[in-house]
Amino acid sequence: MTANTIDTNQSRFRFAAHERVWVFGYGSLIFKADFPFIERRPARIQGWTRRFWQGSHDHRGTPEAPGRVVTLIAEAGTQCEGMAYLVTADVFTHLDYREKNGYIRIQTPLYFRDGTQADGLVYIAGEDNSAFLGPAPEADIAHQIAHSTGPSGPNRDYLLNLAKALRDLSEDDPHVFAIERHLLALDA
Ligand code: SIN
Repeated sequence: MTANTIDTNQSRFRFAAHERVWVFGYGSLIFKADFPFIERRPARIQGWTRRFWQGSHDHRGTPEAPGRVVTLIAEAGTQCEGMAYLVTADVFTHLDYREKNGYIRIQTPLYFRDGTQADGLVYIAGEDNSAFLGPAPEADIAHQIAHSTGPSGPNRDYLLNLAKALRDLSEDDPHVFAIERHLLALDA
């Protein structure tokens, strides 16, 4: 099942094509920047927790056998570390297509490591989208990831690349690292 959000996202914010906008990445947008950007800076957003609860029918799985990718779950008192990119608004044509399986762009304050702040956009796949898979034991999530692949490649590469990117940011994400451990144990 797909949850195509392109039309919704294109109608949500009206920018001039060359207006500069910050976009925050917390999943594949951290490690796969396949779009032009003016600047990128590590940043965090508040009140959100990264979880492998979104189904991937179009990138890391198929409609018949979806993989799992991350989305953000609202949780008071938490914060999520990622990478912010300053882009021109025309980049959203590409990003809306890439993130079309359930992700909606929402506005959020971004906090940079130097203490400065800016408003930005973040793609979040809410619990009401039809591709949402929801919680599962981390060992089961690792098992699903180990056996999923799609047009963008094996689901395991998404997990391993994300875990590495988070380490490179010196970020401790117990959920992501636990799933990585389970996956590597399946290999052994
Ligand atoms: C993101 O990276 O910010 C969104 C989720 C993804 O594409 O993995």
